[in-house]
Order: sequence, then C-alpha cells, then structure tokens
Amino acid sequence: MSKLVHQEAVFADVIRDRHSVRKYDPSFKISREELTELLTEATLAPSGANIQPWRFFVIDEPSLKQVLLPIAFNQEQVVQASAVIAVLADTQADSKVDQIYGAAVEAGYMTEQAKETLTANIRRHYADASAEVVSSLMVDCGLASMQLMLAAKARGYDTVAMGGYNKQAFQETFGIPDRYKSVMLIAVGKAAQQAHATVRLPIEDVTFWNEYTGEK
Ligand SMILES: Cc1cc2nc3c(=O)[nH]c(=O)nc-3n(C[C@H](O)[C@H](O)[C@H](O)COP(=O)(O)O)c2cc1C
Repeated sequence: MSKLVHQEAVFADVIRDRHSVRKYDPSFKISREELTELLTEATLAPSGANIQPWRFFVIDEPSLKQVLLPIAFNQEQVVQASAVIAVLADTQADSKVDQIYGAAVEAGYMTEQAKETLTANIRRHYADASAEVVSSLMVDCGLASMQLMLAAKARGYDTVAMGGYNKQAFQETFGIPDRYKSVMLIAVGKAAQQAHATVRLPIEDVTFWNEYTGEK
C-alpha cells in the first residue's frame, strides 16, 4: 500500500512534466533493450476484450529515419530522436484470440467456457470490419500510445506524438499492408531543448456533471 502511495506522487510528476518535445539530442541512443521495456509497459494498457490490437513498427536506423523525414513533412524530430515508433492498429487482431485467451485459460485467469463465448463474440464483431470496429481499435491504440509516452517520461525520456505524416506513403514505403491502420508516430529520445508550454481548458469548460447543461 505504502509503495503505491509513493508511486502515486511520482506519477503525478510524470503526467505534469510530460510535454511534446521537438528537439532531441541526435547522438543519444536508447537501447533496443530499453525500447522493448517501454513497449512492454505500453502493452499493459487496457483494450476492448483484451484483444491488444496495437502493433509497433520501430524505426531506429538512421538511414530509415531519413527516409521517413519527407513522409513526416520534414519534422526534424523524426531524425533527431533515438527512435520513431509507428503505432498501427491491426484490423485482423481477432487472429490472436486463441493465443490470448488460450494463455489466460492456461494461467487460470479464464474458464474454457468463457474463452469459447468471448471468442465467438469477437469473431462476430470483426467479421464485418465496420467503421465501428476500426474506431474501437483506434481507441485501444490511443491508450497504448499514451501509456508509452508516460512510460518514456518516467524513464527520463521525452516524446512527441505525430499525426502530421502521409499515412499512405508511410505504409507503402515501409511495405506495411492495408490490414494495418496507421494510428500515429511517436518520436522518443533525450530532449535537447525544452518543450514549449501549452495551455489546457479549465475543467468546467470540458465537464458535464450528471446532466447535459448545454453547449460547451
Ligand atoms: C494525435 C496527435 C497528433 C499530433 N501530431 C503532431 C505533429 O504532427 N507534430 C507535432 O509537432 N506535434 C504533434 N502533436 C503534439 C501536440 O501538438 C501536443 O500534444 C499539444 O500541443 C499539447 O502539448 P503537450 O503535448 O506538450 O502537452 C500531436 C499530438 C497528438 C496527440
């Protein structure tokens, strides 16, 4: 319990100190090992039916970062950061239900019966590949993306999420099939310059309490 209370205070600092950094030390390299740890922490995020539809395409080769640069509209952070992580949503994430629920059954977290029911529901849900399915995948991947950025901050690194890139060109250039939907790029590295400050709307401008009280 006391450990959790302590971590809460640290977590408050992490969320307050995270800002989008756009200038990175190009000589600083985050190891594959640590990137893997970051990704592992990101995947502790929740997802609908625990389907974990996120896929990560990590670019840490300098020459490939140069290839990405024009695709990301010449945003400098793409080449200066240690790595750029493209978050992808797998529209065929149901292909891993047996692996996920099978492991849950084996670990004693789920009954075989629950596995069968959930699997049938998921297969039905994915069968039509509707806009609703894609939007739920985007929500899941957004949660993992946020978690990745906070995990990086907690380790002393900085990030910037990027939606400013040509998604079609990105997937074509890196040979990523249509099955995957580009969610965002996340540059991660050691800050060379502080982020510029940003503002937030007051909570009363973005919150309804129990009833809709008119336009916000
Ligand atoms: C989905 C998404 C896409 C973004 N795209 C870009 C981008 O292409 N380039 C950029 O410099 N910042 C981008 N940002 C960063 C936002 O500008 C930034 O999060 C916002 O201004 C708030 O600042 P803060 O992150 O420092 O709190 C993006 C953020 C999000 C969440």
